[in-house]
Amino acid sequence: MILRRLLGRARHRAFREAVNAWFFRFAYGLSPARRGAFFNTGYAPAPEWTAQYAPFKDEPLQAALCDFVLWEAVQSYLATPPLAILEIGCGQGGGLLVAAKRYPAAKITGVDLDANAARLSQKRLAGLPNARALKANGQALPFADGSFDFVYSIGTASYVGVAFLSEAARALRPGGLISFQVGYASPSFARQAEIVRRNCWAAGLEPLAVIDIIEPVIQAIVADAPRKAAQLARVPWPFRRYAANAAGLPGTPSHASYVNGERVSYVVVAQKRQAELDRMVSGYSERPSESVI
Ligand SMILES: C[S@@+](CC[C@H](N)C(=O)[O-])C[C@H]1O[C@@H](n2cnc3c(N)ncnc32)[C@H](O)[C@@H]1O
Repeated sequence: MILRRLLGRARHRAFREAVNAWFFRFAYGLSPARRGAFFNTGYAPAPEWTAQYAPFKDEPLQAALCDFVLWEAVQSYLATPPLAILEIGCGQGGGLLVAAKRYPAAKITGVDLDANAARLSQKRLAGLPNARALKANGQALPFADGSFDFVYSIGTASYVGVAFLSEAARALRPGGLISFQVGYASPSFARQAEIVRRNCWAAGLEPLAVIDIIEPVIQAIVADAPRKAAQLARVPWPFRRYAANAAGLPGTPSHASYVNGERVSYVVVAQKRQAELDRMVSGYSERPSESVI
């Protein structure tokens, strides 16, 4: 009975992962999305520089979400600028360009499960010798323990699943920072924040902040709807409805769930615990919950 339930759950998870993988393969291989630099909800208003920076001229709100995650949200926690940075789920590489602008002295690595995405990212990084993109799975990062002093991620953690936090924590050096954004269908930010804090502790991370960004995300989705609708007009009709819903366009169930308060979007900033603190709190660690990340 228990075995059957476990197998059922594993099959369900494997199916969900396969659908996600196909969705991104289509998006990055065939759809108009592959021409952009980002694949995220956006954040409004955007800081002025993102609108003025040529590679982001069509997607300043998407660049703004990356800027919030990898710059705004972490400024008060960074003692010195990070020198080795990892993005998990780099998509088409726009976030890597934001990181290169903000941390020009750093070595920056982006990974994505999708081979097309990694290739598009690598092309976008031409002329930036300190940045690279690889195809790799966030569930099993191909890096030694403690390789990075800053890890960030946008819209990816829930695709990677429960391994996201433990793998990111393993790749971070003690004292290193992680900042990541997640969006979920859930009516309660407070509940999600509580679960994610607990999961951070369980993964060896001390949560420093969980920031509710649903309002700037909704503002971005509304402001960006005409541009996305024009883009989706070029998507073959069997996929158009699915893509419109994924983009949160007005008139779709997903848009309704945003404006009706049935979704949360937040940014988590956490720090890899030093070994001493880790020993002190080890009794507190629980199994990570499946529902958030
Ligand atoms: C919503 S997109 C975000 C892309 C990018 N961060 C951005 O802001 O434009 C999520 C990304 O996660 C990637 N992804 C999904 N599962 C992954 C995994 N297990 N490991 C690494 N990347 C993954 C997808 O291929 C996709 O590029």
